This record gives sequence, structure tokens and C-alpha cells, in this order.
Amino acid sequence: MPVPGVSLGCDYNPEQWSPDVWREDVALMQQAGVGLVAVNIFGWSNLEPSPGKHHFDDLDEVLDLLHAGGIRVNLGTGTSSPPPWLSARHPEILPVAIDGTTRFPGGRQAWCPSSPVFRERTLDLVERVAQRYGNHPALALWHVSNELGCHNALCYCENSAVAFRTWLRDRYQSIEALNDAWGTSFWSQRYGDWDEIQTPRLALSLRNPGQLVDFQRFSSDELLGHYRAETAILRRNSSAPVTTNFMVTAHIRNLDYWSWAPEMDIVANDHYLDHRLGNPTAELSFAADLTRGLAGGRPWMLMEQAAGAVNWQPHNLAKAPGEMIRNSLTHVARGADSVCFFQWRASAQGAEKFHSALLPHAGTDTAAWRDVLRLSETLQRIGEVAGTAVVSDVALLFSWESWWSSEGEARPSQAVTYLGQVHATHRALRELGVTVDVVSPDADLSGYRLVVVPGLYMVGDAAAERITEYTRDGGHLLVTYFSGIVDERDRVRLGGYPGAFREVLGVLSEEFAPMPPGDEVRLSNGATATLWTERLRLAGAASVASGPDGTPAITRNEHGDGTAWYVATELDPRGMRDLVRNVITAAGVKAVGPETDGSVEVIRRTGEGRSYLFVINHGTTPVACPVAGYDLVTAEHITTVVGGGIAVIREEKA
Ligand code: GAL
Repeated sequence: MPVPGVSLGCDYNPEQWSPDVWREDVALMQQAGVGLVAVNIFGWSNLEPSPGKHHFDDLDEVLDLLHAGGIRVNLGTGTSSPPPWLSARHPEILPVAIDGTTRFPGGRQAWCPSSPVFRERTLDLVERVAQRYGNHPALALWHVSNELGCHNALCYCENSAVAFRTWLRDRYQSIEALNDAWGTSFWSQRYGDWDEIQTPRLALSLRNPGQLVDFQRFSSDELLGHYRAETAILRRNSSAPVTTNFMVTAHIRNLDYWSWAPEMDIVANDHYLDHRLGNPTAELSFAADLTRGLAGGRPWMLMEQAAGAVNWQPHNLAKAPGEMIRNSLTHVARGADSVCFFQWRASAQGAEKFHSALLPHAGTDTAAWRDVLRLSETLQRIGEVAGTAVVSDVALLFSWESWWSSEGEARPSQAVTYLGQVHATHRALRELGVTVDVVSPDADLSGYRLVVVPGLYMVGDAAAERITEYTRDGGHLLVTYFSGIVDERDRVRLGGYPGAFREVLGVLSEEFAPMPPGDEVRLSNGATATLWTERLRLAGAASVASGPDGTPAITRNEHGDGTAWYVATELDPRGMRDLVRNVITAAGVKAVGPETDGSVEVIRRTGEGRSYLFVINHGTTPVACPVAGYDLVTAEHITTVVGGGIAVIREEKA
């Protein structure tokens, strides 16, 4: 980690303010215990105000001021948004949307990931920044670009088409192999030459799903290529660690972070509560677990979150008293060793002037600022947890490829979503007090008591075989519907659903039978089911619950030394929780916390000779701690945590 302990940090945009404010900023940062700031994130037009003319004086001064104040720097390469002169001179760098129309400058990130001109100008800037600051004493971490692909991940311009063809040649080698992979015999789509292939712009009818999933893969790789190109320059000029901020969140899905994560020196994530979702706090916990999975279980950084409201949702809710601290501690409980915010000082101008910040428009005589000081003190008090790890015996498999491909244009039900299934299973485990590792379908599963596979529509042979073997060797498996349906080419696995998992689950589904949204049926075990049913028959498994006509809806199969459960419908939250309770009991999974409606989270972090129990009480009434002990937050021996409160209990190690 760039800063010891559990650090507090933020984005800092001094270019929006005059130099006298910078001095006040550093003094207030010291007061608030800010240890790390991300600067130069959107610095390009200041550093290079006209082509080839550079101006580093301001950034020099800011870095020196921060250094003098004892604040470490997470230095942006400054390339996330090009200056207006670049797109004015080279309009060909502008991204083209799915309908073939250009996206113009005036916002941010208006660049095509495959643009050679953009790449060249970017690398020129990075070289200069790296040479100038690569050994600056304040430098703790490099921050490549910013949220790569937040807006521009999918570009459909001619440069992108050229790069897409090169990527496809690499993948398939021959045009015959590509035709085979995309199933182009369908609708007369057979290609005779690479140059005939386009980016998948909007068409008159449904587009080729094989092409769509490859375009997603290509787009993710293209931006990863950009990250690599910037990183190579940083490494030549500096020994500081390098990262970029991921967006593990419900509304952004274009990058396959499983392929990105190994290239990060430290995994960092940006997370904003999304009030458009049914349960934003549960999604925060899921995102934190997934980020820990990306970090391979090692500590990670929360690179951005909001102190209060954001400005980009339809209704931007302020945080309730204590909520910002609970959110922060939830990330720490789930493995973050650094808690950073967007941004330091609320902007007076620009598109984000109504986005919250650590220092609000109203200044320091505010409840928000006092909360920041309280968080800072809390993080200092719990500093000794840094470096410890979250241990779990349940894995949930997550796949961006399944997300992309399962939500294709033509599918059995538009009401079924990938995240819907993922969140439903994670939520049930969270409410049962069980901590979950969210890992790749290609992960080593051997250490887990239970593996949960929600809606894993696309799965390769090797991963499917590993999951089956895991079960055969004594593991417990829980699979939910619309899993195992296609291979990596989006080609249906024939012989009955759920294709890849038929054997391990001991079932065969002859046909999907989705229900119209709004309809529901009562299962034989009392659970309510919606959205999805299947013409499912048993092929070795036992029925655990069935629909009104007797068709199995939940099944259980003994496979080798293990047990595999299948859920062939969308269960209501209570039904899912009841099922998962049975599954964890059978698997011998021990909950860390009590069963609640999600209002209490208990997570354990352990390290050599030390162990800490985080208790986060989202509810309004006190809760009993699963173990009484010394709480680092209040510096007292406690037995309960007050409503809305948090505790970090230092456990006695046996
Ligand atoms: C992130 C971005 C920040 C800021 C923030 C606002 O997407 O990295 O620069 O825009 O959102 O929520």
C-alpha cells in the first residue's frame, strides 16, 4: 500500500482553484489526516495548453506543497481527457457511437481507444510527466488515466474497425475459423475476407451474438492495451507502483477486469452508492467482495466514493448521519486498506458542482466536515488491521463474459438479468451472516466448502470441468438457472439445458418456460417463484421443491463425494434465503455474523497472530456483538454496537 495503516485519501483538483486556496487546502488536509491525494487526473489542458508547449510550474508547486505538508501523491498521468486543441486538430480521435454518430468534445473522455493519434499524443505527455515526477519524493503511486472506459469503452469508428479486424485475426487466424465461431451460415453472414468485417453498429434487426461478444472482448483488451502502453513508460522512468481505478459497479460493465487485475500493482476501485438499485448497501458489499477477488485476496484501495450525494443519478440522495462512515468501514471490512474520495473540495464550477466532497461548499462548520474528521480518527484507530485478509469458505463465480452474452438482444426473457441473479445469491449469503469471495470461473475452487454459480450463461469447457471436479471431490455446488448454456463462442451446448452442468446437477431441461413479469407461482416448499420456469426432468437428482404442476424447481444431486443444487426459477428473497440456509448447513459453512435482514454485517479480517471482527450496524437499534471484546473504534470493551454504529473488535487468538 502506498501509505501505511488504513489511509484516508481523495482526488484533488487544484487547477480549479487559485494558489492561495492550495495552501489552505494543504492545512485542512493535515487537519483531516488526509494521507494521499490523487492529482493531475484531468491535467492535460493545463500541462499542455497548446500543442507541444508545456507548462509544469503549477503542478510542480502543488506537489512541493503537498510534500512539505507530509501528504503523499497518487499522480495521474493526466491523459484521461484530451485538451480541446487535440480534437480540433484531429477530429478523427473522437469516438463514434453505435448509431454511427460522432461524440463531440465538451464533456470528458472524448477519445477512441484505437486512435493512433490519440495514443501517440498521450504517450508523449506520459513520458514528460514520468520524467519530471518519476522520482519526486511525494510520489507514492501512479494513477493511469482515469476510469478507463467509463464513457468511451465501445467505439464504432473506422479506426476501431481496423483494430477489431487485427484483434480477430490474432484470435482466429483464419477467416474460416471466424465464420465457424460466429455461426455466420445463419442469415447469410459468411465473410470471405477480413476487410468485410465491421464494428457491430446498430442494424435493422438482431445482430450476430458471436460478433457482439467478441467486440466486447476486443474493446476491453483495447483499453487494457492503452493501460499497458502508459505503464511501460512509467516503469522506465520510475519505481513507484502503478494502478488505475476500476469501476466495479452495477451500471458499468464493459471491461473484463479478470484480465486487467494481474497487471495492477495495487487493485483500486471506485464505488458510488446507486440509489436506482433496490438495495444499494447490499450492492456495495458485493462490489467490495468482487474487488477483493480481483485483488486475489490481498488488500486493495477504495480509490473513489462520495462523502455525500453524487450528481449523476436522477435523485441524488444525501447520506444519512453516519452512513458515510458505515460505507467506508464496509469497504475496509471487506479488504480495503485505503479509503479515498472523489473529491477534496466541492467544485464551484463545472458539471460536478453539485457533487459532494470532503470539504463542502458550506465549509468546515458543517456536520459533513465533522464526519470527515470522525472517519479520519476512526481509520487511525483501526490502523493495525492493515495487511490482514478476509477469509471465506464460500466462493461466488462472477463473469463479465456471461454478463455481456447473457443479456443479448434476443433471449428467453428480457426481465431476467445477470446481476439480478448474482445479487440475489450474494444478498442471501450476506443476510445469513456469511462472507463470500467473488472469484473468476477459472479460479482454483479447492479450498471452498461451497461454490455458488448464479446465471453463468457462458462457460468454457475447462471451467465447467473444474466446477464438476470440485463437486465430485466432495465440494458443495449451488447453480441458478440460465447457467452453462453456451460455450465461449456463444454456441448452445446441445442435448438439453443446463448444458455444461447437466451431469453434475443430475437434471435435464427440455425447454425454458419464462413467466410474464408480474406472474408468480407458489412452490411446494412455500417459496414464491417469478420470471422463470423450465420443463425440467430429473436425471439422477432429487426434487427439493416443485411447481404447481409437479415440475421440479429446486433439485439436489449427489455427485461423487459432493452435492450439487439447482434452482430452476427466480425465488423471492425469503425463498432464496431459506434455500441457501439449507445449503450452507449441508456444506458445513459457518456464518461469521447473525442472520438478519441485511441490517447488520459482521466480517472477520485475520493475519498472522491477529484477528479482527468488524460489526456494522445499519439498523437503528443496538445489536449484540457475536463476541465481546476490545473495540478499536471506541477504545473500550464492548458487548453491543449502537444503532447506526460500527465496531472493530480485536479478537483473542487461541
Ligand atoms: C467518477 C470519476 C470522477 C468523478 C466521479 C463523480 O466516475 O472518476 O472524476 O466524476 O465519478 O461521481
